[in-house]
Amino acid sequence: SKIQVAIVVGSNHSGSINRQYAQALARLLPVHFNVSYPQIDDLPMYSLDLEGERPASVNRFSREIAAADAVLIVTPEHNRSLPAVLKNAIDWGSKPMDKNVWRDKPVAITGTSPGAIGSALAQQHLRQIMSILGSVVLGGEAYIQFKPELITAEGDIGAASRDFLQAYMDRFVWLTEKLKG
Ligand code: FNR
Repeated sequence: SKIQVAIVVGSNHSGSINRQYAQALARLLPVHFNVSYPQIDDLPMYSLDLEGERPASVNRFSREIAAADAVLIVTPEHNRSLPAVLKNAIDWGSKPMDKNVWRDKPVAITGTSPGAIGSALAQQHLRQIMSILGSVVLGGEAYIQFKPELITAEGDIGAASRDFLQAYMDRFVWLTEKLKG
């Protein structure tokens, strides 16, 4: 049966390298995996003041994550952590506590940066947050230093990273199908 994957890109930059990377990764998923890219850059900054009547963008985001069988988060690194725009989306999804959309969700984490450690610290921090929220975070790691050849002109993952990332996506597929039952 069809599997729905929400790919959350942790960037609000129109030329985001992480968005390009996410789209190339999506091509490594099997054909029965449908992907969507929930928008996060229109979510207001989290405030308890807005909990009385949640903005439509927040309800849309929460619904999309809740409906997904699994989530793939593709994040840049900002000052050795995850970008605020991504943390804000995660915070919205985590509240109210009895409707935390991240709980029991299979989550895989990756990301790219031109820096030598390829967003490793952002990913490490994100892994900690998602674990606290009750997600089933895929083990292993995929820290990808961005170079132009990471993505081919056709939009596929380049040869040098392809086997490694295919194996990582295959493990994400395995976890998702295992938890879906
Ligand atoms: C960065 N960048 C960055 N890169 C990195 O490897 N480690 C870091 O800690 C940071 N810190 C950082 C802070 C801020 C405020 C900005 C704007 C940028 C560079 C970052 O990797 C680069 O901008 C990427 O292009 C971000 O990915 P997207 O947004 O293009 O997907």
